[in-house]
Amino acid sequence: MPRYTVTSALPYANGPIHFGHVAGAYLPADLYVRTLRMLGEEVAFICGTDEYGVAITLGAEQAGVPYEEYVAGWHDTIRGTFEALSIEFDIWSGTSRCAEHTETAQEFFRALDKAGYLARREEEQLYCATDDMFLADRYIGGTCYECGHTGAGGDECPSCGTWIAPLRLEDPICKICGGTPEKRPTTHWYLDLPKLRDEHIGEWIAKHEWKPNVSAFIKNLLKDVPQRAITRDMKWGVPLPPEYADQGGEGKVLYVWFDAPIAYVSFTKELCAQRGDPDGWERWWKGDDVRLVHFLGKDNIPFHCMVFPSMLHGTQQGYTLPWQVPANEFYNLEGGKFSTSEGRILDTTDLFERYESDALRFYIITTLPETADAEFSLQGFVTANNAHLAGNIGNLVTRVLKFIAKNYEGRVPDLSEEHRAEMDREILEGCGSFGDPALHAQAFQFRRAAEQLIANASVANVFMQRMEPWALRKTDPGRAASSLNTLCEWLLWLARWMAPFMPGKAQELWEMLGQPGRVVDQHWPGSPEASTWRQLENGAALGTPAALFPRLDDPSQEPA
Ligand code: 2FM
Ligand code: ZN
Repeated sequence: MPRYTVTSALPYANGPIHFGHVAGAYLPADLYVRTLRMLGEEVAFICGTDEYGVAITLGAEQAGVPYEEYVAGWHDTIRGTFEALSIEFDIWSGTSRCAEHTETAQEFFRALDKAGYLARREEEQLYCATDDMFLADRYIGGTCYECGHTGAGGDECPSCGTWIAPLRLEDPICKICGGTPEKRPTTHWYLDLPKLRDEHIGEWIAKHEWKPNVSAFIKNLLKDVPQRAITRDMKWGVPLPPEYADQGGEGKVLYVWFDAPIAYVSFTKELCAQRGDPDGWERWWKGDDVRLVHFLGKDNIPFHCMVFPSMLHGTQQGYTLPWQVPANEFYNLEGGKFSTSEGRILDTTDLFERYESDALRFYIITTLPETADAEFSLQGFVTANNAHLAGNIGNLVTRVLKFIAKNYEGRVPDLSEEHRAEMDREILEGCGSFGDPALHAQAFQFRRAAEQLIANASVANVFMQRMEPWALRKTDPGRAASSLNTLCEWLLWLARWMAPFMPGKAQELWEMLGQPGRVVDQHWPGSPEASTWRQLENGAALGTPAALFPRLDDPSQEPA
C-alpha cells in the first residue's frame, strides 16, 4: 500500500500570502490530502515558511527588526490565512525554527560532496563595501553589454533579454545603496547538475510521466544545465558544516534555494519527533511505497523537477524521487496578476468577514489554473455561489430537510421494502450520471472533481422533482416516505463528497442529518471500509435544518 508524502511549496516569510499562491500550491494540496485520508490512505502533509535568503534580510532591515522576529511575524500571519481557509498541514514549521533543519541540510551538503557532486572554486563577484556584502544578482544594476540598455539587472536585460553575467555589466551599481560595487574573489561550492543529469536525472526526467503542462515546461530544462552555486556570503542562513571552515567555508551559508526543499525532510523529522517516533521519518522518504507529491506554482517547477531530485539522488542515501509534481499555472485577479508590491491583492480580512471561507474555497477550486492561467473575480464568485452552492446544494438540503421537519417530525421517513428497488433504480440510474469526485481528485483534476460534486447534487434535485413527495404524500404515503428516505441517504453521501472541498459546510450538513462525530473522519462513499449505500434506520432522529449557503448580493449593485 503506498504512503503519500505531500508537500506544498514553502512560502517566503516575507509578506502576506494571497489567493494566487493559495490556488497554486495550498488549496489543491489540502483537497488532495483530505480526499486521500477519507479513502483510507496514509498521508503526511508538510509545509512551513521559507525563512532565509537575501530578500528576507533586506525586508527585516527595512522594517528595522531582527531577522528572527521578522520571519516569526510573517510565519504567524500566513498561518492565519491558512486557518481561515481550513488548510491544515500535519506540520507547519519554518526553516529557521525547525530544530532538525540545520543538521539535515548540512548532511545533504556533506553527502553530495562525498559522492563527488560538489565542485569548489574561487571566483570574483561584485561586492559592495558600503553595505559590506557580496551582491545577489537581483541587487545589481548596470548597462547591458549586449544592447547598451542602461536599466539592465544583474540577472537579465529587460530590453534584449540577455541572461546577464553580472561581472560583465558596464557601470555596475549596488541597488541597495546606489554605490559602485567592486570585484572581490570568494570561494563557493557548486552543485554539479550536468554530472547528475548525465548519470541519472536526465533519463529519469525524460521517462517520468508528468502532468502535461509540467512536461512542456521541463523539456527545455535539460538542454542547458549549468553548475549552480549553493553557498552564499552572508550570515542569515544554514551555516556550512563546520569541517568546511578551513576550505574557505567560514562565514558562509547554504543558498536559500538549496536548503528550502531539504526542509521538507527536516519538517518530516520534526513531525515524527512530535509523534514520539523520531526515526519514523524515513518511512516517508525512502522506499518503493513512498509517493512523494510536490504541489507548487509554475515558477517552482525547475527546482522541484530537476534540482531537488538531483539533490535527493546525489546523496546516495536511498531517497525516493518525486512521484508527481502537480504544478499549476498562474492565478490572476480580475484580469491582472496578483501583486503584493503593486497593491493588486484582495483584502482577505475583508473578504473573510463578508463571505464564508468554504464558499471561497469552492470557488477557487472551480477556477484553479490547472491547465492554463485562470482568474479570481468577485462577480464570478457571487454568480457561482448563487448557482452551485445556494441554488443547487443548498436548495436541495433545505427542501428535503425542512419538508421532513414539518411533515415527519424531523425523523428519517420510512423506506418500505415494496419501494426499495424502484427508489434505488431511479436515483442510481435514472436521474443523471453520478460519479466519484475522488477519482478526479486522485488524478489531480480538481476542477473536474468539483463539477462532479455539483452533478451529484443535481441527481438528487432531479429525483425530488420527479417524485414530487409533497404531492405523493396525499396519494401514496409509502412511496412519498421512501423517496424522502432515499434523499436522506443521498445527502449522507453528499456530506462526505463535500468534505474535502468544504469541510465546515459538510460538517453542518452531517449534523443536520443527525450524524455523530466528524464528517472528515468518515470513510469515503464506495471505499472498501465504508458501509455501502443505505445506512439510515427508519425513524432515526435528524438534526435541525438550516440554510447551508446564503444567496449573495450582486457586488456590482452594492453601494461603494
Ligand atoms: O518561490 C517560493 O516562494 C519559494 N519560497 C518556494 C520554496 S519551495 C521549496 F523548495 F521549499
Ligand atoms: Zn551598496
